[in-house]
Amino acid sequence: MTRKLFTQLVGCDVPIQLAGMPGINTVYLAAAVSNSGGLGMISGTHMSPDYLSDAIDSLKKVTSYPFGINFLVPFLDKDCVKAAASKSKLVEFFYGNPDSSLVEIVHKGGALACWQIGSKEEAEQAEKAGCDLIVAQGLEAGGHVRGDIKLSSLLSEVLNSVNIPVIAAGGIGTAEDVAEALKAGASALRIGTRFLAAKESGAHAKYIQAVINAGAEDTVLTETFSVGWPHAHHRVLKSCVEEVNEFEGDIVGERDLVGVKKPILKGSIALPTKETTGNIEAMALYASGSVGAIKETKSAADIMTELTKEI
Ligand SMILES: Cc1cc2nc3c(=O)[nH]c(=O)nc-3n(C[C@H](O)[C@H](O)[C@H](O)COP(=O)(O)O)c2cc1C
Repeated sequence: MTRKLFTQLVGCDVPIQLAGMPGINTVYLAAAVSNSGGLGMISGTHMSPDYLSDAIDSLKKVTSYPFGINFLVPFLDKDCVKAAASKSKLVEFFYGNPDSSLVEIVHKGGALACWQIGSKEEAEQAEKAGCDLIVAQGLEAGGHVRGDIKLSSLLSEVLNSVNIPVIAAGGIGTAEDVAEALKAGASALRIGTRFLAAKESGAHAKYIQAVINAGAEDTVLTETFSVGWPHAHHRVLKSCVEEVNEFEGDIVGERDLVGVKKPILKGSIALPTKETTGNIEAMALYASGSVGAIKETKSAADIMTELTKEI
């Protein structure tokens, strides 16, 4: 059976998907990726259905191109999934066993269903659950990492196991990486870290500076930032692990979570956005080795141009 192309399925021109990154993906970042021909994404995690609907409406004001909504399964609100499915092209899930009842909600609302997976078995479950496409996330990825297999091995295992389009994710930060993953059979690339320092990013200025300062070897897979989401390893900058280990006290700062101010506990999963205050360097600075490709702040459109120059 011939695998459909990501671009055909989603209705965009460029095989690049922005990774779901709560707090980082402003509607302006998502719109910039969609307006550049890729698939912009916003997060639907930790918000009410009304708040999410308003965010989607704001996004629609700045792009008329397809976009998607990402959900973290451990924090899922099914009413948010319904709202997302009726208003977007694609709804996507991460960090939970592929579930046909969620896929059904997405299809009923009229959207495509996607699952980010970390193993061949999970890819097969996602296809069986009715997903239209999957993201194969390699061990190199920034943020929470589902599996323990490097992208190149995972991609070839998964391509041999499922017939739906496979998006490759994890450590893709340059035009060469993009070309290589496409050549290996990926239908598209999912990119997170490379957009952290985009002008439209919601990341705190000190987070952006730490990303610019870091090299490709300066990340670590850890469980240091597990308050709020235990037993889920994640890739962050080494510097924030050193900082938080030296931090004395229980509260590292304060954040604005969809309009409500909340303290950030030491070791919390919360990443620092522009509205966050406190010891930013001791918070979860999620990132992959793609930081090595980030030398300055740039518009997302310029980053898209750089990433696609070899395809
Ligand atoms: C700051 C940050 C936050 C993330 N948050 C999420 C999330 O909420 N949902 C999700 O599916 N993936 C999340 N991820 C993982 C991405 O989906 C993706 O697998 C990863 O960014 C790919 O690797 P890269 O960062 O090297 O591009 C996050 C990644 C980063 C860097």
